[in-house]
This record gives sequence, C-alpha cells and structure tokens, in this order.
Amino acid sequence: MDTTTSILFVGDVVGGLGKRTLLGLLPTLRERYGLRFVVVNGENIAGGLGITPKLADQLFAAGVDVITLGNHTYRQREIYTYLDAHAEILRPANFLRRQPGHGWCVVSRDGVRLGVVSLSGNLFMDAGRPVFAEADAALHALKGEVDHVLVDMHAEATSEKVGMGWYLDGRVTAVVGTHTHVPTADARVLPGGTAYITDVGMTGPRGGVIGVKREQAVEAMTTKMPVRFETSTEDPWLNGVVITTTAAPLRAASIEQVLEPAAPAR
Ligand SMILES: [Fe+2]
Ligand SMILES: [Fe+2]
Repeated sequence: MDTTTSILFVGDVVGGLGKRTLLGLLPTLRERYGLRFVVVNGENIAGGLGITPKLADQLFAAGVDVITLGNHTYRQREIYTYLDAHAEILRPANFLRRQPGHGWCVVSRDGVRLGVVSLSGNLFMDAGRPVFAEADAALHALKGEVDHVLVDMHAEATSEKVGMGWYLDGRVTAVVGTHTHVPTADARVLPGGTAYITDVGMTGPRGGVIGVKREQAVEAMTTKMPVRFETSTEDPWLNGVVITTTAAPLRAASIEQVLEPAAPAR
C-alpha cells in the first residue's frame, strides 16, 4: 500500500494569541501543503500554562488530529480527567504511570495510520521515567498498528534531542523537538530515513521572551525578584514543520520548516 502522506507539526502554541495565529493560518497551510495530518503541541495554550478541556476541544474542532503536551501538562486541574478520557491528547509517555493521561495514540486518515508519541527529556526536566527506554516501549506497542510514527521529544537539552533523533533513525518517520520555543536550523532527513529537527519553535508572540512579556522577563532576570508573568501580545508567528513521507512505511521524504507571521486580522 502507498502510505505517502504529509504531516504538519506545530510548535508549542502560546496563549490565546498563539491559538488565533494557528487557527488563522491553518486553512492556508492545509491548501499549500496538501496536509493530511495536523499535530500540535498545546502545552502553553492556556495563557502560557497548560491546556483546558475547552481549548483542547477547540483545537480538535479546527481539525487538529493530535495534541501533544510537555512539562506544563498539569497546570490546569480541569484537564486531568480529559487526558484519561480522550485518546488523541498526549502527555509525555515517560511520566509516571499513575499520572493522568497516556503517551501515544494512533489516528487514521484515508487509510493511512499515524502513530504519535509524546516524550519528555530527562536532562533539566522532571519526567519520572527514562526517556530512551520509554521510546522503545512505545514503538513496541505500536508495532504493526501504524504506517508512520511521529515522535514529539519535549526536552531542554539539544544533546538529548539529537541523541533521540539518532536513536530512532530508521525506526520512526519523524522526531521533532519542542520546549525551547526557539526554532533550530538543523531540519533534515537522517540517513536511516527519519525526519529530524532539534526544536520546531513556538506558535505565539515573537515580541516577548519565549512567550512572556519581555519587560517582565527582563525584570525578573535583572532584579532576581519574583515577577508575575503574562503572555506577550506582540508579533505573533507560527513555527512548525511539514513532513512528507515516502510510499514505504516509517520513512520521511522531506522535512520543511514553516515560519510564518500571523495572518492579518479580518
Ligand atoms: Fe512550551
Ligand atoms: Fe515545555
């Protein structure tokens, strides 16, 4: 079977502005790239901290297939039961088993089955279990159930993300890094056929400091005193990648960065 497909993965959506930026651009991107799957990291969509059921429902209603999360997963209590009840929203698989939610799922479109896996790095992050062993466990669970697999490696350290890219090269369709909110310039298909980027970036206000109002972030850095952070409202951009796959399963043909200013408000 020909499993050629195209996947848009969108980096951490920050606040209402990030959500509006994504929803405003999605129809254009769908048309431009002939997208089949859309996967979005939504860990910062609720005012910068976590996600609520209402916001998750809005993303799904807009045609998002899978939502991935990260270290901010549990900032909004209302999401806990939602995480258990909805298959297509993922928290990192290598969190503790007793924490709400689950770490992978499979979605199908036009006969193509896409597995999505959410992982958290262990370096400078608070994930309860080792990430490399969990990646193996996820792939074992998905074996035979999927045509393609996309892994969101939510991590701080570039080394750990690059390491995961090589570890999974030839075993998954794509490994995309998230969490730093700053896109890296290393998108490529690795020799084994896995599309890779160290960080996709963020979808939200570029005028702040990784999403936060810049004067508040700079005040905290310069005074070393607590500052209440709000999300910036300046210069919204969408940061994502489009991955196209080969006809053969678990292989990417290309990965292209999508760095796009918000569509003008109508
Ligand atoms: Fe984030
Ligand atoms: Fe994060």
